[in-house]
Amino acid sequence: MHGELEVNGAKNSVLPILAASILNEGISVIHACPKLKDVYSMIEILEHLECNVTFKGRDIIVDATDVKDSEIPDNLMRTMRSSIFLMGALISRNKKALMSFPGGCDIGHRPIDLHLKGLRRLGIKIEESYGYIRCEGGRVRGSEIHLDLPSVGATENIMLAAVMAEGVTIIRNAAKEPEIEDLQNFLNSMGAKISGAGTNTIVIEGVKKLHDTEYTIIPDRIVAGTYLCAAAMTQGELTVINVLKEHLEPLLAKLKETGCEIQAGKDYIKIKCDKRPKAVDMIVTLPYPGFPTDLQPQMVSVLSVAEGTSIVTETIFDNRFKYTEELVRMGADIKVDGRVAVIRGIEGLMGAKVVARDLRGGAALVIAGLGAKGTTIVEEAEHIDRGYESIEKALKNVGGDIVRIM
Ligand code: EPZ
Repeated sequence: MHGELEVNGAKNSVLPILAASILNEGISVIHACPKLKDVYSMIEILEHLECNVTFKGRDIIVDATDVKDSEIPDNLMRTMRSSIFLMGALISRNKKALMSFPGGCDIGHRPIDLHLKGLRRLGIKIEESYGYIRCEGGRVRGSEIHLDLPSVGATENIMLAAVMAEGVTIIRNAAKEPEIEDLQNFLNSMGAKISGAGTNTIVIEGVKKLHDTEYTIIPDRIVAGTYLCAAAMTQGELTVINVLKEHLEPLLAKLKETGCEIQAGKDYIKIKCDKRPKAVDMIVTLPYPGFPTDLQPQMVSVLSVAEGTSIVTETIFDNRFKYTEELVRMGADIKVDGRVAVIRGIEGLMGAKVVARDLRGGAALVIAGLGAKGTTIVEEAEHIDRGYESIEKALKNVGGDIVRIM
């Protein structure tokens, strides 16, 4: 793998920010948007809510002047979990929301109990019955909320519900991911009064009304990290452009431990790996700024051909090692016991037919295929399209021998 790859805007920023755009009874222009399946799904939901949405180049223009409907149909809720962000946004906009429980996904149990507990603290009446969640309530009342877990989605949903509440809302033990800071900055650009995102305490001072805005989202640190892992897997030399180094420190530290050389500037990271990676003692996925769970599968692919044994512990999701069964089909020596995987590195993987079960596990299989001897066929690649813009074109541009056949 040799060359340069440009990273687009962050999926996990644009999704909550699209939901947030309905808080303004006017126009929001969002720049640097990635062309992903999940983005098109979110746009479909906004159009269902009678927003006018255009996606031109990398700009999404949302006209949310008329958002009367407050119900998200079951089929749209099931296409994507992130539709749950609309609960907080619809409560802010229409004082009510009706939606079915979001679809689960293949990385484990994805409850929303912390979302509902937080919204109830804001005085919102929430009834859960027959698979539906009905939220009703007058003006949302500011309150203090202490999250049991620093949940990204719960933090964002509560922020969205509290923007136009009466009084001040404080979220403690808030998640600190960069995408939450991006959401805060977007909302403040519309006239919200939020501070503290990126720390474990976020303060939201309710405002009466929001106004039109134009905003550029941050680069996707997980896509950038995925490409860096691909370079490590193929002992290549790659420069990833349009990336914020501070968002990737945990991954960079681990790639250096494997023996990769890393150089970084203001908005680029250059990686050089000219020998077989070394194993790392341990990786523990943690909420930001710990090692991101969304880069765990990609790193395990690299470690599967490292010199030595690595131990990876997944503390965020309870079933995020499924893809390792596919790596074992490619010759990897990986033992999984619950949330711990022991990876004994082998010389090299063999190409095989494998199946992508989820977004990041699928990306890990593509990385494995790039470094394996022979041909690898990754089936159900549509999972990968949820988070990567034509991953095959990007990787082909830097020397990957990869083609999409379906
Ligand atoms: C966001 O999911 C991301 N998705 C995920 O990225 C990411 O893996 C995750 O945060 C952790 O960083 C988006 O931002 C759209 P959580 P989210 O709420 O909000 C438990 C990707 O590949 N939990 O922080 O669903 C939950 O079960 C995706 O891009 C509760 O128990 O993550 C999980 O174990 C995958 N109750 C843990 O918290 C709740 O009410 C972290 O979940 C909410 C969460």
